[in-house]
Amino acid sequence: MSKLSLGEGNTPILSLTTLSKSLGINEISAKAEWMNPTGSYKDRIAAATIDDALRGGLRGWIGTSSGNGGASMSAYGAKAGLPGFLCIAADAPAEKVRSIVPYGATLLPMSQLGIAEMDAIRELASQYHLKLSVTAYRYNPEGMSGAEAIGAELLKQGDFTHVYVPAGGGGLLVAVARGMAGSTKARMICAQPAGCDPIVQFIDREIAEPRIARCTSTISGLQLPAPPDGELAASSVMESDGWGCSVSDADAWSMQDYLASKEGIFVEPASALAAAALANDVKSGRLPSSARPVAILTGSGLKDLRRFSSTVGLPVQTFAIDDLRLRLEAIDANE
Ligand SMILES: Cc1ncc(COP(=O)(O)O)c(C=O)c1O
Repeated sequence: MSKLSLGEGNTPILSLTTLSKSLGINEISAKAEWMNPTGSYKDRIAAATIDDALRGGLRGWIGTSSGNGGASMSAYGAKAGLPGFLCIAADAPAEKVRSIVPYGATLLPMSQLGIAEMDAIRELASQYHLKLSVTAYRYNPEGMSGAEAIGAELLKQGDFTHVYVPAGGGGLLVAVARGMAGSTKARMICAQPAGCDPIVQFIDREIAEPRIARCTSTISGLQLPAPPDGELAASSVMESDGWGCSVSDADAWSMQDYLASKEGIFVEPASALAAAALANDVKSGRLPSSARPVAILTGSGLKDLRRFSSTVGLPVQTFAIDDLRLRLEAIDANE
């Protein structure tokens, strides 16, 4: 049986030249994970997960998702001809939900998707012979192995000293660290929203376990007050001599705008948050100017357009060609 694939992986490294220059650091790199088939790195996990379901002879899959994992599982499930049930966060951005619909999986919006619900879904998966398609080591180590290729690719793509990873459940960070294991001295940096940073607080020994009472961040994908892979992620960070960064939602949004308007890269806020953590660390002096950091830019900006509703930034009036001519003449006159 050949491995299930839609062309995921082997994403390029891009140099964030304007950001590097403005921060006065040699080179800042980005791993372009939004270039995967459905627009996020979760395609790597879905390829391995659904492949595992096929090999195990399972009748379908059931997963939980804030949107990206659901799109990935739905696409790869469709390719494999396996029906799926997707328990999706009811507050997921509309673009994430709508872009899943065409794949034909059964969408089940859930008001709660914490550890208790995931544990219950694990039992249902086993009862009904469905592959548990959650993107966390705690629930789906076979699938998560697909994301370890990110780390392996990084080893070939550059001599990176610091890897900035946005963390929600923590699995992505663990996967990248495992993929780089043994052959590098790169430090793993865990970037979380300040309004939902249990792993960072745990690394900083502010709390005894990586769980907090509630999340006040609105950054989709990173809203997990009880991350299933929290301990594993913290260990990966500490073993690599890395650290945790808490970043405000506002800093993530302004980095999202910066990357789009200065680098031509439109990623979702969760991805921009990792780059914002990196920029904050350069500004505070935590990251030396000799460092060669890379940020994992995990998902496409097209997945969450809440900040760019149709009225934001667009002129209200419509233009005819004569108006357009006047507009351009005015630019000429001002030059
Ligand atoms: C775009 C994006 N970045 C980062 C993450 C964080 O991954 P993890 O939950 O494995 O920490 C997610 C998770 O949903 C995501 O969707």
